[in-house]
Amino acid sequence: MLNIILFGPPGSGKGTQSERLITQYGLKHLSTGDILRSEIAAQTPLGIEAKAIMDKGHLVPDEVVIGMISSALDANPNANGFLFDGFPRTEAQSEALDGLLELKNTEIAVVLSLEVGEEELVKRLLNRGLTSGRSDDNNEEVIRARIVEYHKKTTVVADYYKQFEKVRSIKGEGSVDEIFQALCKEIDPYIS
Ligand code: AP5
Repeated sequence: MLNIILFGPPGSGKGTQSERLITQYGLKHLSTGDILRSEIAAQTPLGIEAKAIMDKGHLVPDEVVIGMISSALDANPNANGFLFDGFPRTEAQSEALDGLLELKNTEIAVVLSLEVGEEELVKRLLNRGLTSGRSDDNNEEVIRARIVEYHKKTTVVADYYKQFEKVRSIKGEGSVDEIFQALCKEIDPYIS
């Protein structure tokens, strides 16, 4: 089983590269952002509560997203492996994920960290906001709040996995193809 975390700030290309990587390696894509947006679309109580938080660019409480990931892992007992996108985002989420994977006798193989400069992130997200319909993309103040939240709460996730020597930095600027090739170069050694 191959489990990968695709890590990086908002707009660094996690979703774009995830689509290609799951096809290349036959992994199950688990994006907490996508799960939350489907709850919002279905107007569930969880979705209604999450929307108010996401619209400010803040993080949804740990116990909510950990519960979502726990259910998703249980719902996919035959997966070849998982690609985590946008999760974990705090140290508590990292520890919870390691615990959940341990229960399934598996672990994170590698954390691929996409490195992109802040102005490029803002430019990409404002540009996507013109067409995406994502309410957290169409306001520069909210985009910058998401990036602040990333520095405040999420960069520690890389520090957490660095202690196990699992983090690889990838330049996240350039063409989508070039970045995909760089990611594959890091993943291929884990394929038996
Ligand atoms: P989430 O959905 O995870 O969003 P995000 O991390 O803010 O990331 P994005 O989806 O905006 O960017 P991305 O890195 O996937 O880049 P993408 O490929 O889309 O989270 C949204 C919210 O949900 C959070 O703010 C939080 O409130 C909540 N949430 C989610 N998970 C949570 C968790 N674990 N804990 C607590 N709260 C949680 O690309 C962006 C744009 O750039 C696209 O338009 C794309 O076409 C373009 N692009 C991609 N690659 C390139 C390239 N190489 N060159 C030029 N443009 C590019």
